[in-house]
Amino acid sequence: MDKIRAAITAVGGYVPEYKLTNKKLETMVDTNDEWIKTRTGISERRILNEKGKASSDLAVPAVKEILENKNLDPLDIDCIVVGTVTPDMMFPSTSNIICHKIGAKNAWGFDVSAACCGFLFSLETGVSFIESGKYKKVIVVGVDKMSAIVDYTDRATCIIFGDGAGAVLLEPSTDDTGVQDSILKTDGTGIEFLHMKAGGSLEPASHETVSAKKHFIFQEGKTVFKHAVTGMADVCAEIMQKNNLSSDDIAWLVPHQANLRIIDATANRMGLSKDKVMINIGHYGNTTAATIPLCLWEWQNQLKKGDNIILSAFGGGFTWGAIWLKWSYDA
Ligand code: UT7
Repeated sequence: MDKIRAAITAVGGYVPEYKLTNKKLETMVDTNDEWIKTRTGISERRILNEKGKASSDLAVPAVKEILENKNLDPLDIDCIVVGTVTPDMMFPSTSNIICHKIGAKNAWGFDVSAACCGFLFSLETGVSFIESGKYKKVIVVGVDKMSAIVDYTDRATCIIFGDGAGAVLLEPSTDDTGVQDSILKTDGTGIEFLHMKAGGSLEPASHETVSAKKHFIFQEGKTVFKHAVTGMADVCAEIMQKNNLSSDDIAWLVPHQANLRIIDATANRMGLSKDKVMINIGHYGNTTAATIPLCLWEWQNQLKKGDNIILSAFGGGFTWGAIWLKWSYDA
């Protein structure tokens, strides 16, 4: 029997309206627009600043865009896999909440915690469900409300992160397009350099953990940067080599948007010119699990059936990887 491939057949996205600009950050911490732009490539990020709103409120409009564009009934969705490190609650899962909010009563789902690789790991999971033949319509979401875990007095982290959501619909491919190969990795030697110290079972929330600011992102930026620069470039080179892909074969690189310098290093290693690289870090910052689907969302009108696309990320864990797919439809 021929292998069933999983294809992305629709994309949705959502970012909140409020723009947190570098100029505004200058009034909050000891930083400046010039430093942020040259060290990260970021000018502004979007923040969900309405009280009582959570990651699911970012994800729902992204998923609804797919339903509307494909004229799909929520009851037709089999499963929703959500990559996030900022779930609405510790439990139930954000997937559970999204299914409820959109009326996907026949679906099941769960969250995947893989930091900046949340979308890649969730996509791999969704792809396997389609390839199994058991599921026909799987939605994969990458969403993070990073503002919920950012310390806005810490200039080393608060300038980087933003909020957003992206989603894709996976269906069985009717031709040879769709996801072709993946290389995904995890290495716990990275735990100490990027994590949230409290709120889990290791150090449950207490007055002490709140006073000690242990519910915010802790990042040793320089060390993460060094690993990310080599990790993302290496894995992209590896997936190209494994599949005999040259730089001429690649239509697009869709990199995780953590730092413009990491993206440039990866593109250089792959031999790609800048016009083949999706970059939106300037206006969205690092939205963790949402960066890659938000790029697909912004660029979808330029994508052509058969385009070879490499998605790649590196982040907390460490986790990193690359997925190669052939785009499945013309805009
Ligand atoms: O997506 C998840 C994975 N995360 C990443 O991939 C992030 C990887 N890391 C990075 O992108 C970068 O390390 C940062 C953007 C976080 C920091 O950039 P850097 O070039 O590594 O700066 P640094 O931490 O080495 O700091 C250089 C200097 C320091 O001053 P001194 O010690 O040289 O006097 C910092 O105190 O810049 C200072 N600094 C700042 N200055 C102005 C740090 N943050 C700021 C700031 N504004 N916001």
